[in-house]
Amino acid sequence: MKHAEHDTEESDPVGGADRQWECEVAWPDDGGDRESICESFRLLQIDTGCDSPKDLPVGNEKWYSRNVLRKQRHWEKIVTAKKKKRKQEKERRKAKHAEDKGAAHQHSKRVLKAITKERLLAAKEAAPWLCVDLSMTSHMTKKEISRLAAQIRRLYGSNKKAGKPFWICLTGFVAGSPISEECFRMNDGFSNYLMDTTPESYLDLFPLETIVYLTPDSENALQDIDPHRVYVLGGLVDESIQKKLTLQKAQEHSLQTARLPIAEYMVKNANVKNYHSETLAINQVFDVLSTYYETQSWPEALKAGVPPGKGYVLQETAL
Ligand SMILES: C[S@@+](CC[C@H](N)C(=O)[O-])C[C@H]1O[C@@H](n2cnc3c(N)ncnc32)[C@H](O)[C@@H]1O
Repeated sequence: MKHAEHDTEESDPVGGADRQWECEVAWPDDGGDRESICESFRLLQIDTGCDSPKDLPVGNEKWYSRNVLRKQRHWEKIVTAKKKKRKQEKERRKAKHAEDKGAAHQHSKRVLKAITKERLLAAKEAAPWLCVDLSMTSHMTKKEISRLAAQIRRLYGSNKKAGKPFWICLTGFVAGSPISEECFRMNDGFSNYLMDTTPESYLDLFPLETIVYLTPDSENALQDIDPHRVYVLGGLVDESIQKKLTLQKAQEHSLQTARLPIAEYMVKNANVKNYHSETLAINQVFDVLSTYYETQSWPEALKAGVPPGKGYVLQETAL
């Protein structure tokens, strides 16, 4: 190094100034810049026209160091500006990357939405229909109606994700009724749900022989799901269980009824509370139906929909 040839600042003002540059300039991180700036400093020294301190005119040392300091400041400014520009460039690249990623995400979300819509609309033509009978809400408290609205949201969410969706229809859904108000109030985007809602009864919409009313009190275990049939769930949340309400309703109209085959594939678990119930919430029943429709396996379907709290486990032989 050139300044290593000079011993002290007093004996060599050029070397002293050189050391000062090295101390005061904020060096950028990469060695390339440091090299080029060193080179520039060397050139600056040559510009002074003084090869050695002996050549300096007496009394001009002050002028000389002022000049060097001015150039030093100039270079410091350049280095700072360069650093700032590089930082801005880095931030710009980062923002662009995030923007591109966001656009790709948006795109795939849009595509996914379109695929879901297509699958659900296709289900309307070819898949089994699942009606939720909302004509019994007068039997329910305000709290139960809110819970039913939440179960409808979960049921719809499961159907949207299902490999083989059903077509869902809310019957007895009267505008301004407590259940309709709760559905709109509690379920985001409810008006855009891809399903039918009608104030009419399933009894007036479908031939009676195609209807299967699902009720936990039926004598018949559901064997299979037929895409040409309409399955009806009772829109009920009965905390104080109103036994046989839907069974009686179905029998009044001579409808076919069925229960989930829980007794055929599951056994009572000796649980802490010793509580056992085959009555599920509508979204849980739907999870069983939907899994069965996709897998054709009752053990798998029951495992997916019957929560452990109901006190049932799959029979060893069904595993
Ligand atoms: C909370 S349950 C209401 C039970 C009520 N006691 C009744 O009379 O239906 C809500 C609905 O889910 C369906 N459900 C619940 N558990 C079922 C089961 N094990 N088998 C068939 N359907 C069931 C029925 O459609 C039922 O009306």
